[in-house]
Amino acid sequence: MKINKLGAFIGVEIKDLDVTNIQDKKVINEISELLSEFSVVIIRNQNISDDEHIRFSEFFGELELTKVGTDGSGSKLIILRNFDENGNIVPPSDRQRLNNLANQEWHSDSSFKKIPSKMSLLSAKMIPSKGGNTEFLSMRAVYNSLPDDLKLMIEDKVCWHDYSHGRSKIDPNLVTPQERKALPPVKQKLVLKSNKHGKSLYLGAHCSKVDGMNEKDSAELLNNILQYTNDQKLVYSHVWEPHDLIMWDNRAVLHRATPIRGKVEKRLMVRTTVAGETSTINESF
Ligand code: OGA
Ligand code: MN
Repeated sequence: MKINKLGAFIGVEIKDLDVTNIQDKKVINEISELLSEFSVVIIRNQNISDDEHIRFSEFFGELELTKVGTDGSGSKLIILRNFDENGNIVPPSDRQRLNNLANQEWHSDSSFKKIPSKMSLLSAKMIPSKGGNTEFLSMRAVYNSLPDDLKLMIEDKVCWHDYSHGRSKIDPNLVTPQERKALPPVKQKLVLKSNKHGKSLYLGAHCSKVDGMNEKDSAELLNNILQYTNDQKLVYSHVWEPHDLIMWDNRAVLHRATPIRGKVEKRLMVRTTVAGETSTINESF
């Protein structure tokens, strides 16, 4: 495998691999190691069907089933698009467009689940000519940049993650009563310690507050940490090429989509999500 490093802290690219023709488990182990160290792995030139996407993803673990209320619900695929079955781009007030807007906030996929996902695999099917990048923020590099007293203070903190928290800020009606019922808030550790390459912060749009702190102190602490995320060096911004497949470690990076620029053009992405094995609360190290 030929590997090129992309960002300062995260992101590598693989050019000479066919994910539909993996002959040796060693290749999977090698990709897992790259993901563990560089958090984001881009595999170029993968013109794959949804079944091939699923089959490759399953090498890395059991896949999550897409939650209620999302395109692809009940299947192993999540479909992100801004157009309807007839190919017409839906209006900005449409749920699909509002959900895409929610994806423009830094987040970690399914951090609102008790056992949140380990990694996601996203394949670009239709990409607009301008914008619609996907950006990744190294939460290990953010952790490393914190002052020691702040590191010490947050070492054992636990946060609440709530699907409706970030979504309600986009539009109060975006989260349906059915989703609210299916997805009660859960606790997650703030500092993740199990990756051999270092500690990372587990935050993002679903994180609503620090457990055991009042609203004001919690907001202050979270804002204090968030200051350290405003550094472009910690970000790898991916400009999609046709047939790119990207894998990322949800416990080491946050990610977000960037807006489509200029005329709104169709964008279609398909994702699988590999389930985690443990809750962050019980992670062993
Ligand atoms: C996702 C996601 C961002 C994008 O698939 O989980 O957040 O750029 N996607 O589409
Ligand atoms: Mn996402």
